[in-house]
Amino acid sequence: MSSLNVLIMAGGLGTRMKSDLAKVLHKLSGTPLINHVYRAAVDLSPETVIPVIGHQAGEVEKAVEAFADQLRVRNIGTDTKLAFVLQAEQKGTGHAVMQSRDVLTPMSGTLMILSGDVPLIKSETLKSLLSTHQATGNVGTAMTIDLDNPTGYGRIVRDATGNLSKIVEHRDANAAELGIKEINVGIYCYEIQPLLSALNRLKTANAQGEYYLTDVASILIGDGHKVGLFKHDREDEVLGINTRVELATCEKLLRRRTLEKLMLSGVTMIDPESTYISPEVEIGRDTIIHPQVIIEGQSRIGNNCEIHSWSHLTDVEIGNAVVVKNSCVVVSSALRDGVNIGPFAHIRMNAEICENAVIGNFVEVKKSKVGKGTKSMHLTYLGDATIGERTNIGAGTVTCNYDGKQKHPTIIGDDVKIGSDTMLVAPITVGNGSTTGAGSVVTKDVPPNSTAVGVPARIRHRGGEVTSDE
Ligand code: UD1
Ligand code: CA
Repeated sequence: MSSLNVLIMAGGLGTRMKSDLAKVLHKLSGTPLINHVYRAAVDLSPETVIPVIGHQAGEVEKAVEAFADQLRVRNIGTDTKLAFVLQAEQKGTGHAVMQSRDVLTPMSGTLMILSGDVPLIKSETLKSLLSTHQATGNVGTAMTIDLDNPTGYGRIVRDATGNLSKIVEHRDANAAELGIKEINVGIYCYEIQPLLSALNRLKTANAQGEYYLTDVASILIGDGHKVGLFKHDREDEVLGINTRVELATCEKLLRRRTLEKLMLSGVTMIDPESTYISPEVEIGRDTIIHPQVIIEGQSRIGNNCEIHSWSHLTDVEIGNAVVVKNSCVVVSSALRDGVNIGPFAHIRMNAEICENAVIGNFVEVKKSKVGKGTKSMHLTYLGDATIGERTNIGAGTVTCNYDGKQKHPTIIGDDVKIGSDTMLVAPITVGNGSTTGAGSVVTKDVPPNSTAVGVPARIRHRGGEVTSDE
């Protein structure tokens, strides 16, 4: 099979978005538009993906790089190179592809061209386009579809024999052409060398004064080549996003697609209408998602979990049989098998809640490890802490981790009982089997099997001997 490279046109501002943000950075299901297109592209295992970027190029590049890195961690797209091309001034889709001339010149084989603002395209569809293109031996193949309302799209003008004659933009079309329902999706395969030769001959004699990529087709046809058409029938995959109304339409379609895939794989959604889950999220069998839950990013959730209403999970790693009660917020953190959190728990910044631990209401856990079977049931802040197994953290406990300048760690051992309202002034260590009294302010390390009581806490070894100043 001949080699494949993919170009993504993503340089435009997207005037019709009425936004200061480049169009391809607007998010769909929590992920910038361009990354949805990149995701479909890497599934074809191309040698290179070439995003042509212009508006807010730095930010767009960063967003794609970060997403590509996240995918590589999951072994997706590891063999695909990324080659960003800058289109400093946006003079049209043809101009966008022309900017990558230096990257394309040494290449041969097929270039698939995708639009950064057509994000719902499925990789299966791209695969059929590619194999159709390569089987016919045409120099180019454009994807088309019939739309009841073709307004705004380029129209496909066929000749008497049904072959492509040209593509006419809406703004350049005459009355007869405006009546055509078959539109140009903005996704193409071209053989690289003939494409480059046609790009050199693009003109700007059109309503927008731009270099139109669509004109490449008629130029190549004029050269005596054939440009084929690949007619698709799934409107929900080819919608282009030019306005925020279309963004919302695509959001709904993508959400439905993601939820259906999860439901068909064994996840119960009590109310799909009010459930928001990003496309990269993985959820195991027999997990139940209650109404009004949001799950985003590269989150993975195991089997037999129950996620209750109003919880918002972002980039989480959740094991099996985990219960997230109502109104929890979990960000970039792990909940291991059998964990139970909430209601109203806040877990963030690489926190790890180990097997069968319980985090109750109004408990915040930041950048901390909570050991197996440990419980912190009420009104507590655990920050920069490492807590052992089977320990109980009483209501109102605070790890006082910040002295106004720096953050300090708290270490709590196994089988510890932290009394209600204990202030643990970090850096501090509480040894295995120790106890703190209710209301104590612990400012010195507590050795194993000791008791700390008072303000500041006096520390007494279980044997009765005093181990700190009294
Ligand atoms: C384009 C097609 C149209 C097709 C439609 C499908 C052309 C001339 N027209 O129109 O036939 O029906 O897509 O959605 O190609 N871009 C750049 N640099 C530029 C201009 C655009 O990178 O200078 C990028 C945009 O960021 C966008 C994509 O190309 O991702 C499409 O550009 P857009 O201006 O939205 O084209 P349409 O008017 O939608
Ligand atoms: Ca568009």
